[in-house]
Amino acid sequence: MIPPLSLHGVRKSFGGKEVLRGIDAGISAGEIFAIVGPSGVGKTTTLRLLDLLDAPDSGEIRFHGASVSVGSPAALDQRRRMAMIMQNPSTFRATVFENVAYGLWLRGVDPREIRVRVFQALAFVGLLEAAGQRADRLSGGEQQRIAFARAAVLRPEVLFLDEFTANLDPGNVRLLEQAVLRHRREAGSTIVIVTHNLFQARRLADRVGVLLEGRLAEVGPARDIFEASQTPEVRAFLSGEMAY
Ligand SMILES: Nc1ncnc2c1ncn2[C@@H]1O[C@H](COP(=O)(O)OP(=O)(O)OP(=O)(O)O)[C@@H](O)[C@H]1O
Ligand SMILES: [Mg+2]
Repeated sequence: MIPPLSLHGVRKSFGGKEVLRGIDAGISAGEIFAIVGPSGVGKTTTLRLLDLLDAPDSGEIRFHGASVSVGSPAALDQRRRMAMIMQNPSTFRATVFENVAYGLWLRGVDPREIRVRVFQALAFVGLLEAAGQRADRLSGGEQQRIAFARAAVLRPEVLFLDEFTANLDPGNVRLLEQAVLRHRREAGSTIVIVTHNLFQARRLADRVGVLLEGRLAEVGPARDIFEASQTPEVRAFLSGEMAY
């Protein structure tokens, strides 16, 4: 089967520094794929390429097997089928309801349907009661829950989560992880997560890709990577022995 998203020999440099040095991977429909690796290795960069926000210097991103040219009308259309929660998401100075409804308004969804979907998404993340409150005045954990609801409400075909539970307490982490699993069950989205939390990758991911020095050093089922990695560098990274 052709994967919904794939990377083929993808390279990306910033200011003469080659961050990604040839990435090949396919993300399967409906899977949760985690990208892990040390800080600064290019995880967010990879996610931005997959989300068609940025173009590779060479190599290709394919969406359902077709090479994507970032910025083309086809790519804009494909981007509407994706949603991303950025590392450090921010909320607008508006109510929680308006923050979550915004993407649906942009897409011209019927107002009655917007209400139903927004309240459903807020219930998912335990924020029904906060619908009328100013989003930017809520706590960091609540704002990250809003960010998740804002992406999930679009029912994207592909959902990207970049450190979506960073700096949260265990209760909020658990709530959001359950929301991810429930979202996958109910909306059937393909989900790519980037996380520093190796336990989280293990709890959520079907497959894991370990990014080291610009390449995917190993890709495989989460259990194989965490329990039986075949690559010494990956084992060193996972056990915290490798100092980056
Ligand atoms: N727009 C940009 N301009 C210049 N350099 C960039 C840009 N985006 C990323 N970089 C550089 O590319 C490298 C990889 O960045 P990236 O944000 O992808 O890392 P990361 O793996 O997500 O790190 P972290 O775990 O800290 O979030 C870094 O050295 C970063 O400074
Ligand atoms: Mg990052």
